[in-house]
Amino acid sequence: MDALQQRDPEVAAHVTAELQRQREQLVMIPSENYVSPAVLAATGSVLTNKYSEGYPGKRYYTGNEHVDAIEQLARVRAQKLFGYSHANVQPYSGSPANHAICFALLNPGETLMGMHLLYGGHLTHGWGVNFSGTYYHAVQYTTNADGWLDYDAIAELARAERPKLIFCGGTAYPRTIDFARLGEIARSVDAFLVADVSHIAGLIAAGVHPSPAGHADVMMTTTHKTLRGPRGAVILCSGEPSNPLKSAPRTRENLPTLIDRAVFPGLQGGPHDHQTAAIAVALGEASTPAFTTYGRQIVANARALAETLLAEGCTLITGGTDNHLLLLDVTPHGTTGRLAAEALSRAGISVNANSIPHDPRKPFDPSGIRIGTPALTTRGFNENDMRTVGNAIAAVLKTPTDNVTIERTRQTVRELCAAHPLYAELAGV
Ligand SMILES: Cc1ncc(COP(=O)(O)O)c(C=O)c1O
Repeated sequence: MDALQQRDPEVAAHVTAELQRQREQLVMIPSENYVSPAVLAATGSVLTNKYSEGYPGKRYYTGNEHVDAIEQLARVRAQKLFGYSHANVQPYSGSPANHAICFALLNPGETLMGMHLLYGGHLTHGWGVNFSGTYYHAVQYTTNADGWLDYDAIAELARAERPKLIFCGGTAYPRTIDFARLGEIARSVDAFLVADVSHIAGLIAAGVHPSPAGHADVMMTTTHKTLRGPRGAVILCSGEPSNPLKSAPRTRENLPTLIDRAVFPGLQGGPHDHQTAAIAVALGEASTPAFTTYGRQIVANARALAETLLAEGCTLITGGTDNHLLLLDVTPHGTTGRLAAEALSRAGISVNANSIPHDPRKPFDPSGIRIGTPALTTRGFNENDMRTVGNAIAAVLKTPTDNVTIERTRQTVRELCAAHPLYAELAGV
């Protein structure tokens, strides 16, 4: 930061202000987190200077001996942590990774099935304006009226539509996903099952959510959410890769070759080696007992928050949570998702407006908000803290336009942040 400060004080000032914002707010967007100083160091390392198109041992440039070792470490750590025998750690992020998976496994126009965006799925699982809903015939499953996945309905849709690929996993689903059941459904129609566990990968690594290994043919995760790594993604599958430059039939045995070939040279050029190194560091951290403690605490914190909000009369979709996030219908308080998120933001609590299942409102100003506990858990918050946070959130939801409540909540937020300092080692920034 000293170098940045000297060379470009304008950018340095914005970075410093962002650090301050992260320190002073309760970050409760479920997909955000705080990476360790070691992950930050790897992300900002000299690896950003290198070009290394290809894979370890098969590069198009020289000078990759260190990059090869780092990528190999990341691959082996991912394989071990998630129980698959092949890992591709090069996707630039989650959306390109899902793009690569579709490119690997489908011809344009073929059918894919995924969870509807407005019911908690992701854009890249078949949403109309996204590549996945444009180049493929996308069929979307929803939840039942109470917000739970309805596995019988998913099985019926799969039988009717015969998709070649089924995505599971989402962005706003507060309950455990039954990968075993989804695996049966996919096999019954001879589809590939792709588990996009971007949101819950850290919980899987910590053993507090079932793993898709053994059920899903392909697992994809972003590395920057509960897994607490840099921005990036990993695709896992099982088997031995052969030459990614040669085409291979779309069989389960060929998955490693198909995926590798789709990532490079199919979609990407040179991998982001600084990201790969930071992914290796994050995966190393995710293999420690401390990470298991963190994963358990995320879930314990989400439960404590859910109990507090329910006791305060808030409406939780599915009535609670099994994982790191809660989805609230805020319309019973006479407000909307957008107004509620803005009021909470004024009070120093950062959440996002979110559609709820069967939402009568439009996505731009939906009925709900989505709240998560990963970042606060990283900061050291426990169940008691979450009860304080829950009471503060409920107070704002009930009177979102009352400045006295907003100011009182800001004060509570200040006290909580002071009790849980963030990035104390970056004090000199
Ligand atoms: C389930 C899921 N898949 C994929 C993505 C896409 O990841 P990225 O934003 O890194 O492209 C996200 C990010 O929100 C996600 O939640």
